Amino acid sequence: MLASTLFAVLALGLPSLLSATPVAVEDITAVEDVAVEGLAAAATVDFINPTDNGGSWLDKSNGLGEPLNVVISAKSTPDVLTLDGLLRYAHAIGFDKECLGQHQGDPQTANLGDGRGDVNETEVLRENFGIGGTIGTCLESLEGGNHFRVFPQSTTGAIFLAVSQEEDLSEHHTIAPNGYNIGRDLLVAGAVGTKSHFNIKTFHLDTYVTVATNLTGLATAGSVGINHGIAIDGIVTLLTITKTT
Ligand SMILES: *[C@@H]1O[C@H](CO)[C@@H](O)[C@H](O)[C@H]1NC(C)=O
Ligand SMILES: *[C@@H]1O[C@H](CO)[C@@H](O)[C@H](O)[C@H]1NC(C)=O
Repeated sequence: MLASTLFAVLALGLPSLLSATPVAVEDITAVEDVAVEGLAAAATVDFINPTDNGGSWLDKSNGLGEPLNVVISAKSTPDVLTLDGLLRYAHAIGFDKECLGQHQGDPQTANLGDGRGDVNETEVLRENFGIGGTIGTCLESLEGGNHFRVFPQSTTGAIFLAVSQEEDLSEHHTIAPNGYNIGRDLLVAGAVGTKSHFNIKTFHLDTYVTVATNLTGLATAGSVGINHGIAIDGIVTLLTITKTT
C-alpha cells in the first residue's frame, strides 16, 4: 500500500521534472551570455575563437551549416571592418551585392561566441565577373560562381565569411563538389597582394594590401554537420587587409 502510493507520487512528479529540464538549460545559457559581454573589444587580437564562448565554425542553414572558412582580422584597417568599407574592398577583389537586389533563400545565422547567440548574415556578396554595378553579379546568379556570407564578430570587429562556389541556376544554386574549399581558395587567390578599385562615387582610387595566413586546428575537417554532405579540409584563412590609399 505504502509502496504503491509512493510510486503514484513519483509518477505524478515525473512530468514536471521533465518539463523543468529545459528551463534549467536556459538559465545556464543566460549566465554564459552575461560572462561573454565582459569581453573587451580590442584590435590587439585578430579574432576570438567562437568555440571559446559557445559559438561554432559552422553557420546554420536548415539544421546543417556552412563553414566559416575565411576571417578578416580585426587588425585590418578599421574602414574595411565597416559594412560600407567591406563592400568597397569587395569591389576591389571582384565581388558585389546580389543581382539587382535579389536575394534567394532564407538568411543563414551564425553564433560567433560574441554573446549575441545566433545572428543573421548581414550581407551576401557575389562574384561580379569584372562587370561593374550589381549587373555583374546577375551572371553569378545565372551561371554560378563564388559568393560569401558576412558575419561580424561584435566583440572584436573581425568579420567571418562563409565562402562557397555555387553551381548554376539549373542546379538551384547548390554548392559545387568541394565548393567550400574551392570557394575559399579562389577568394583568397583573388585577394592577396595589392588590389585597387576606382571608386566612382568618391573619385578615389581605393588600394588594399592583403596578407593571407592559413589556420588549422580551429574548424573540424570532414563533412559532419555540413550542408550537402560536402567535406571540408578544416583550413580557415585569416586575411589581414591594409588600406593604403
Ligand atoms: C533574421 O531573418 C529572418 C528572415 O528574414 C527574420 O524573420 C528574423 O527576424 C531575422 N532575425 C533577426 C534577429 O534580425
Ligand atoms: C592555404 O591552404 C590552401 C589549401 O591547401 C592552399 O591552396 C593555399 O596556398 C594556402 N595558403 C597559404 C597562404 O598558405
